[in-house]
Amino acid sequence: MVDELVALGARPERTGRGSVSVGLTTRRLYAANLFLRCATRVLVRIDRFTARSFADLERQITAIDWSPWLPSGAVPRFRVTTRHSRLWHDGAVGERFVAAFPTRGDRDDDRVNPDPGVEVEGDDGGTGPLVVVRGLDDRFTVSVDASGAPLHERGWRQATAKAPLRESVAAGLLASAGWDPSSALVDPMCGSGTIAIEAALLAAGTPAAAGRDLALRAWPSFEPGTWASVGADADQLRAEAPVPDGNDLPRIVAADRDAGAVEAARANAERAGVADRIEFRVAPVAALEPPTGTPPSGSTGLVATNPPWGGRVGGGDLRNLYATLGNVAAERHPGWEIGVLVADRSLARQVRPGLGERLHLELGGRSAHWLVGRLPS
Ligand SMILES: C[S@@+](CC[C@H](N)C(=O)[O-])C[C@H]1O[C@@H](n2cnc3c(N)ncnc32)[C@H](O)[C@@H]1O
Repeated sequence: MVDELVALGARPERTGRGSVSVGLTTRRLYAANLFLRCATRVLVRIDRFTARSFADLERQITAIDWSPWLPSGAVPRFRVTTRHSRLWHDGAVGERFVAAFPTRGDRDDDRVNPDPGVEVEGDDGGTGPLVVVRGLDDRFTVSVDASGAPLHERGWRQATAKAPLRESVAAGLLASAGWDPSSALVDPMCGSGTIAIEAALLAAGTPAAAGRDLALRAWPSFEPGTWASVGADADQLRAEAPVPDGNDLPRIVAADRDAGAVEAARANAERAGVADRIEFRVAPVAALEPPTGTPPSGSTGLVATNPPWGGRVGGGDLRNLYATLGNVAAERHPGWEIGVLVADRSLARQVRPGLGERLHLELGGRSAHWLVGRLPS
């Protein structure tokens, strides 16, 4: 994500576990929401203060100027987490924030709050604007969510096969493998097609949040002119992307031995508007082949896949499956890169010894490794 921010012209200041802090102009804030492929949400810090007692906290909350961020009548949700703070009770902290927004019946103008809420971290329920409050050692930061629904929910994935990846994770795999959208990509165990579809969207120059209703557009401080200019950048990117035609075969393959999974992948790709950029195949991994029409030598590309881990999908002899993947990839894709997302690093050695770890992720409560290396020429 740091690289994506740098590509937008921003200079990330700090990275934390699953987060990056960065100063952004309004234009870059809008661009971050539209273009970032690996982010879940963009939060804008609107206040920072010290509070050692509830009286302190109440005084500080009263001083916050919400007017640029919350539309009139908005019903904010507060997500509170504290660590090592004297005010350690997240619910009690949240209640002080909720109290700053009068509930129906407390006042009779239209700025009412029929259903104020304090939610715990990770709970994405509710539809009102999200305000994130974090306390660390009595220092509190208050941030408003600029994104709305999580950014990885691109909207195209309605059909799922087993154990689908988040769209933002697939985008992160491609970015960290250094995949060049002008080269080929094959996912031989595509499931619902997440990796191939993210690749095709990248090749098509489609912004990650295209068509999404971002929360920042409802802010009183929203600047339509700035938004339009960011949208013009997006249109230009799309216009510059090569368009597949009769002579330009898709260079992205999504294959799976399960016909239902391939059908789900195709339906998702159609919704994403990139079905014409992907070659779909119902085939076992043993039949792994580069995209149709790829010259037998001299081509470059990436075999990128998320094989079954054993826990949620498959079972059977995973060692054989991983070894077959490594053998057919080396035989039929000489000189290509290969990336495998695995839970078990020793199983990954069946694919190829010596693959390097590019990402270490927590997925569905399990540790996952994205291992990448080059196949012999
Ligand atoms: C973890 S899922 C992939 C999920 C996918 N990345 C997504 O986002 O939906 C693994 C897939 O491998 C497929 N698979 C398992 N064994 C296979 C084989 N021998 N050949 C081809 N596909 C296989 C399964 O059908 C399943 O769809």
